Amino acid sequence: MTGPRVALRPLDVPLLERLVDVARADAAPPEVGPVTGPGDPSPDAPPQRWTDARVDAFRAWHRAESLDPDRAGRTFAVLLTAPPAAADVRNGAPAGGPDGPRGPAAGGEPCGEVIGAARLTPVPGEAGTVEAGLWLARGHRARGHGGAVVRALRDLARADGAHRLLATTTVDNEASRRLLTTELGAHPLPPGATTLTVRAHLSPAAVLLSRPAPAGQAPPFPGEAPDTPGPLVLRWLREAADAGVGALQAATLATVDGDGNPDARVLVLRDVSPDGASWTFATDRGSPKGRQLAANPGAALTLHWPEQARQLRVRGKVTAGSREEAAAEFRTRSPAARVAARTGHQSEALTSDDAYREAEAAARATVSETPDAVPAGHTVYTLHAGEVEFWQGSPDRFHQRLHYRRTDDGWNRRRLWP
Ligand SMILES: Cc1cc2nc3c(=O)[nH]c(=O)nc-3n(C[C@H](O)[C@H](O)[C@H](O)COP(=O)(O)O)c2cc1C
Repeated sequence: MTGPRVALRPLDVPLLERLVDVARADAAPPEVGPVTGPGDPSPDAPPQRWTDARVDAFRAWHRAESLDPDRAGRTFAVLLTAPPAAADVRNGAPAGGPDGPRGPAAGGEPCGEVIGAARLTPVPGEAGTVEAGLWLARGHRARGHGGAVVRALRDLARADGAHRLLATTTVDNEASRRLLTTELGAHPLPPGATTLTVRAHLSPAAVLLSRPAPAGQAPPFPGEAPDTPGPLVLRWLREAADAGVGALQAATLATVDGDGNPDARVLVLRDVSPDGASWTFATDRGSPKGRQLAANPGAALTLHWPEQARQLRVRGKVTAGSREEAAAEFRTRSPAARVAARTGHQSEALTSDDAYREAEAAARATVSETPDAVPAGHTVYTLHAGEVEFWQGSPDRFHQRLHYRRTDDGWNRRRLWP
């Protein structure tokens, strides 16, 4: 067995009595449920010690708020279920109190030591968000139990259909911080904060999709920007290459078919003219995108370089180049790329792997016999930019956009709201 084994059990009367014993023996008051009692100077001031009146108030509050099945929140006793870990904790704990294993709990619950309480409560006004509350007896903190409980709360919340978890931890609790920020996808806290309150994603895909954006340098302000977008495109391409951006030439081309339905796919951007007005790519004229461009020349190209939090957007009309341009572009390709461009009919149904292999063998034979012969449909297209936009992301969300629009008199430059 690795790591602590904790289990959450719905709080019932016997477990509440065990929780009261644990809380009473602990110097630090529980944060789950009220810890003040009659006679305390301020309800916000934590008590320095437990009195009988305060214990009664704690018990009464839980009986009303935690044991009532009609309440929206759910309260659990946290049980330490692994005997080796329990022994370890008892030996090292300064305030273990009368909380050793007591045999099976009510309702056939597994043997376990009550070490705290946890709570899931719907957050009013935030559909799908539940708040996680956790209190562990002092001797059980900083031992990894907290993380195990938060993971268990996360799984329970997910099972309830929640999609976000609201949780708070102190900044100096490095383990909780890591759990909330890396495993639950919460963003890092602002500088100077002493507690971290996060709304964490519960969907595994959303956690991966919510990684903080990397930093980058803002594009120049319009007054300092070049007259045409070209030099800035070239600078960004050079900086992306220097930064080791993977596939910096991968661009998404969006087109619209004759019925007005949009389509988009990634392809390789082949060239950009020095003024940033012409953007070229190559494909087969008979492919869906080729047919869409024949029906509707309006298109958009988007490049995204996540390592630098940068996006380039281009819109305009597309024209098809001559056979000579297609031939010149085709000759720049490696033999493998020539074979790939000749193999099969792009985007048509593939019946079998054998058909694929046969078409590839035929293409290889053609390329080896007539390497410079250009496939009939191979075409170089040019997108004539009417608009070019530079988007620079920033981790503090102070994103910057610089937009160029082509006019009869040259290019207009302006900043856009992000
Ligand atoms: C990184 C990358 C680069 C690609 N480059 C090209 C390309 O240069 N030309 C091309 O026709 N398809 C390219 N493709 C394939 C297209 O995304 C697409 O699958 C194919 O062109 C068929 O698109 P269509 O059915 O819309 O015509 C590339 C795909 C990826 C992921």
